[in-house]
Amino acid sequence: MILQTAAQRPPTASADTGTPAPSDTGARALAWSARLWFAVAVAGQLLFAWYVAAFYGGALAQGDLAQWNKVMPRGYIAGDTAGNAAIGLHLLAAVVITVGGALQLLAPLRRLAPAFHRWNGRVYVLLAVASSLIGLYMVWFRGAVGGLAQHVGISGNAVLIVVCAAYAVHHARAGRIAQHRRWALRLYLAVSGVWFFRIGLMAWIVANRGPAGFDPVTFQGPFLSFLSFAQYLLPLALLELFARVQASGQGKARIMMAAAMLVLSVATAAGVAAATMILWLPHL
Ligand code: HEM
Repeated sequence: MILQTAAQRPPTASADTGTPAPSDTGARALAWSARLWFAVAVAGQLLFAWYVAAFYGGALAQGDLAQWNKVMPRGYIAGDTAGNAAIGLHLLAAVVITVGGALQLLAPLRRLAPAFHRWNGRVYVLLAVASSLIGLYMVWFRGAVGGLAQHVGISGNAVLIVVCAAYAVHHARAGRIAQHRRWALRLYLAVSGVWFFRIGLMAWIVANRGPAGFDPVTFQGPFLSFLSFAQYLLPLALLELFARVQASGQGKARIMMAAAMLVLSVATAAGVAAATMILWLPHL
């Protein structure tokens, strides 16, 4: 089961598989709702990874790195070899961790190929931390779009990625698998923060039929400041709520949470569709 740790399993679950007993409707609904959300999210993240590889990798293959600046105003700076290389690593890491993160959470793959899970996990953690440090350099030294609140918000995301990565590795090395999974899920959502920002912003723009709550020219405003924190705090809060409801053993609460996950899956799919049409496809 994707969003379940051993410690959180309902009493009716099988100890071997974590699968709820057939009679436990609430637990089964919750498990399937989590699978549905995960499937939608992975599909949306693979689209994002495809865009990054095709657009930024394509420019690299053509030897025309200045194309990066069509999206990132300070992506490529002529003569700044080290800075350009750091951004190249940030983009390469985006592709590898997006694909690798999806593979890490697949329970059958973990069972069938534990050695792959360990190596993919090491690469994932290393690149997520490196990418976050490079992101901090971009925000505070190289220059990035947005205002101070946005910069503080995304910096908080970087700090959380490093903290979650440290705890996930620490518990894995100590063999505390339940805690490891809990921190690995938090890490996965924190790493997905920048993706949540993109799908959240595009869904917001479509819902409002245009930019609202921010200035599209300066790319600043209250909504963007809010989203820079919400991109990771909201998914992490929902994960905690999900875990508590799952552990509570209350059928009614589980059904309600499953219904909320269904709504979230539809909202996520809508955000992915909007981001694909507005942000990603036009650059391919
Ligand atoms: C670890 C997960 C992350 C991924 C997958 C990721 C991915 C990306 C991608 C694909 C871009 C290119 C812009 C686009 O085409 O959409 C980008 C740009 C950028 N990223 Fe990240 N990023 C991550 C984390 C971070 C963090 C934690 C920070 C900040 C601390 C950060 C700061 C930036 C900045 C400043 C830009 C340039 C935006 C601009 O000003 O034009 N990233 N990132």
